[in-house]
Amino acid sequence: MDLSSTIVYAQGGFRRYDEAKVGLMTHGLQYGTGCFEGIRGYWVPEDRELYLVLLREHFARLHTSAKILLMKLPHSVDELIELTVELCRRNAIAGDVYIRPFIYKAAEDVGVRLHNVPDEFAIVPVAYAGYHGDASRGLNVCLSSWRRADDSMAPPRSKITGLYVNSALAKSEAVLNGYDEAILLSQDGHVAEGSAMNVFLLRRGVLYTPDASQNILEGCTRRAVMEIAKRELGVEIVERSIDRSELYAADEIFFTGTAAGVVHVRSVDQRIVGNGEAGPLAARLAAFYERAVRGQEPNYLEWLTRAYVGRD
Ligand SMILES: Cc1ncc(COP(=O)(O)O)c(C=O)c1O
Repeated sequence: MDLSSTIVYAQGGFRRYDEAKVGLMTHGLQYGTGCFEGIRGYWVPEDRELYLVLLREHFARLHTSAKILLMKLPHSVDELIELTVELCRRNAIAGDVYIRPFIYKAAEDVGVRLHNVPDEFAIVPVAYAGYHGDASRGLNVCLSSWRRADDSMAPPRSKITGLYVNSALAKSEAVLNGYDEAILLSQDGHVAEGSAMNVFLLRRGVLYTPDASQNILEGCTRRAVMEIAKRELGVEIVERSIDRSELYAADEIFFTGTAAGVVHVRSVDQRIVGNGEAGPLAARLAAFYERAVRGQEPNYLEWLTRAYVGRD
């Protein structure tokens, strides 16, 4: 997919990426006053179908993010699903795709605020190019020296453009120090999440993940993986605050995220997790999730929107 000729949805209609311009002084660019989603579409050549994953959950979260930022999306969840399907069709997408819907404050004046500023909404699809490279060997992770943004400062449950400075600082610190990823602690020193993924740990057969009050983004993949763990594998799941040293003591650790999928952690702060390979639970969850998002798990088809079925 060549970006410049990709069809996007912007300014209320479909147009070429090149034709959709944003001014240099736009608030969303200058002040980070926007919010967005990241959605995956999995192309399955045998079905000649593009499976769009958890569209309803992503667009519901976008509505919540927008509300927190005093913005109003111009479309309902159902309309957003229709627009996304139409966008995929117009681009005749036949490959894995990452779809980026976003809404931002569009005034081009000076003066930071949320009120009395018009919003603009757009959706841009790009070819999905992988996230952590070959993650099959697992990720070497460090605890970031940056703390996760706190809800009292800017709400992490809202996927706010400007908040990604927090993720970018943590990710680059980790990579420039030779790690693959970072885990951020919250202000009070408890485990929050990865730079763009939620985190889970298994200890003595129980699966733990930070609860929604731990300054996490309430991930769509997090919820989906919890459903698989509970329904398919009968695993007990506990959502609570997690200490840093519980990571060092864990039998398994893995991340979940739209872009990353389900990916296991090989080490945390140089301490190898288990034997360094994907643990049995992480491996089963990752395999089940991969099948579900490709339309191969009949009980999970409601997670998927088929872009091409029934259309000419
Ligand atoms: C900060 C952060 N946490 C968690 C996630 C995982 O959320 P999801 O599973 O909805 O992609 C993401 C990815 O969007 C993220 O950016």
